[in-house]
Amino acid sequence: MSANTVLKRVAAAFDSSLFLRPLCKLYKTNMASTRVVDMRSDTVTTPTEPMRAAMAGAAVGDDVYGEDPTAIALQGKMASLLGKEAGLFLPTGTMSNLAALMCHANGRGEEVILGDRSHISIWEQGAIASLGGIFPRQVRNNPDGTLDLDELVSKIHPGGHDGHYCLTKAIVIENTQNFCGGAPISPEYMDKVASIARKHSLKIHVDGARLFNAATALDVEAKELVKHADTVSVCLSKGLGAPVGSVLVGSKETIDRCHRIRKALGGGMRQIGVLAAPGLVALETILPLLKTDHENAKLFAQGVAGFGEFGVTVDVERVRSNMVLFSIERDDLRAERFCEFMEEEGSSDSPPFLKARLLAQGTDGKVVRAVFHHQVSREDTEDVLKKMRNILSKKY
Ligand SMILES: Cc1ncc(COP(=O)(O)O)c(C=O)c1O
Repeated sequence: MSANTVLKRVAAAFDSSLFLRPLCKLYKTNMASTRVVDMRSDTVTTPTEPMRAAMAGAAVGDDVYGEDPTAIALQGKMASLLGKEAGLFLPTGTMSNLAALMCHANGRGEEVILGDRSHISIWEQGAIASLGGIFPRQVRNNPDGTLDLDELVSKIHPGGHDGHYCLTKAIVIENTQNFCGGAPISPEYMDKVASIARKHSLKIHVDGARLFNAATALDVEAKELVKHADTVSVCLSKGLGAPVGSVLVGSKETIDRCHRIRKALGGGMRQIGVLAAPGLVALETILPLLKTDHENAKLFAQGVAGFGEFGVTVDVERVRSNMVLFSIERDDLRAERFCEFMEEEGSSDSPPFLKARLLAQGTDGKVVRAVFHHQVSREDTEDVLKKMRNILSKKY
């Protein structure tokens, strides 16, 4: 236990005494800084000192002319990690997915097949339709994140004389699957998707915002997971902890075309070495820590499983990467209110001075999401569980 934690605990004990409370208040305002554990997402990390140093010292050039040495290094590194010819730095995962799909489906009346719980379907404002002119043909996501392959095959319309249908151009697989609790998609499943895609001459795009989490969870090389993919988008700003950016990889010809599309989408940036540099640091220093995030997520889920008596349910087996989804099945406590309580400081609660930020997900008022990243430690995980017990054991 750190010295600060001990001091905070003493202060909390004082806080519960009427006479000593003013002393405690003085201590609290002057000494004990509140500890915030932010588990809403893995996008909330702040850049590490080595990342900031790399940004400050990055070699740069005009990337629209293809002259930024740091971006070139990052793009090359990601392409080689994923077994592809070329890479392209983009500001966001959303733009990266959009550019890839605009490359694969670039004519009128064309569609891509994707999961009804995919990030592209739910959380990207329908940009592939509104900006890309692509019809999103949805297939049900199974709870394990996969798409039902019979349903997928039934929805393919690759061409022919029947003018009723869109022309199917690509299949999109999200790995890990965010909405399904960070479910990793296996290489064996990807083999099946690939044989369908080949049979119908379809491209495969992998939204691998958290591809390295999937590789870590399945204990395989990331390139093994995407060997059949024509394009793969990987986010640097999720579990990898960099402040910004995604890298799209594929064949040289595909990436050249995506380079043109990126410019049209307003993503042609100039001295982006300052943005690419922390990405390189993330691959060196944060990638090896993903395993610990997964262990903390599992530990957390096991702790949450012990709150069954308070009306909380969690499927521990489903927790395979850095996300935990659990449900609060209670009439007196909705997920939103629970998250508010977790964020309140509550100095006399145990542990003291801890604000835990979690996300109420969906609209049923039950599901809460906790996401693990390199700025949530094992001690944080244990303390958040203690705070949860405190809150859940009360009636409201
Ligand atoms: C699976 C997945 N794909 C794409 C994105 C989009 O990334 P960005 O927020 O950088 O646009 C996210 C963001 O959380 C995501 O979870």
